[in-house]
Amino acid sequence: MNNTGMPKKDITVSVSYDGECHEIQTYTNEYRSLMMLIYDRIYTESFGECLGMGKCGTCLVEVISCRRAPTGYDRNENMTLLRNIKAKENIRLSCQLVIDEKMDGLVVKVLP
Ligand code: FES
Repeated sequence: MNNTGMPKKDITVSVSYDGECHEIQTYTNEYRSLMMLIYDRIYTESFGECLGMGKCGTCLVEVISCRRAPTGYDRNENMTLLRNIKAKENIRLSCQLVIDEKMDGLVVKVLP
């Protein structure tokens, strides 16, 4: 907590979207997932259509770098990625990535 009573924003995530890089500060559990953070802070279009159920595949991000492997919910992610032709090892559903201390330093690119 800081002196305003709000949790300290001690997690930094870099998100590349539509040719722009956004450096976003957050804290553990400010959002339910990385998808909700991106949706709320960047206003992406047609993103996260199933609202985090892990079924639509519209919240794909490419993990460019990370200090630690992010925590995942693992709800339908493997099946949805298998159906997606863009899937490869560093592609994740952002709705399945938990906002916690492991996410600090994460660099991702939102896929079209
Ligand atoms: S929001 Fe639908 S799969 Fe992530």
